[in-house]
Amino acid sequence: MRVAVGADHGGYNLKEAVKKRLIEQGHEVEDLGVFSDQASDYPEQAAAVAQAVLQGRAERGVLVCGSGLGMCIAANRFHGVRAALAPTLDHARLGRQHNNANVLCMGERLTPVDQALAILDVFMTTPFESGGRHQRRIGKIESCSGGRS
Ligand code: RB5
Repeated sequence: MRVAVGADHGGYNLKEAVKKRLIEQGHEVEDLGVFSDQASDYPEQAAAVAQAVLQGRAERGVLVCGSGLGMCIAANRFHGVRAALAPTLDHARLGRQHNNANVLCMGERLTPVDQALAILDVFMTTPFESGGRHQRRIGKIESCSGGRS
């Protein structure tokens, strides 16, 4: 699978571990930075990964910051991105099965690397339960625009 990865300084080390794991598993990885632990602003990498997914350069994205929260908030501003913050295996599984999450967000400062890589494995291997209620609900998300109903 083609996967775009990105991080800020707070997620740089875990992003490197994620990239290594994905490459070992035979995935094609596009690394959109950052490339050191120098301070950076997470919305920039979130935008880069979101655009890679929306443009079809990547089928999935992985974003890492200190908590995962900023990346998730920023990535979900991009229509068509379904970014899931996954601190547990179950979040990753359900994010794929029910929400068809196309971007995984994790927090390097809150999730140990072994656990994060196990979460990544679940995210990469769990299919969406397509059709039926989950598809209908995602359709409703995708038809949302603006802040009013
Ligand atoms: C950076 O210090 C930190 O705020 C960032 O990595 C992230 O956790 C934001 O949500």
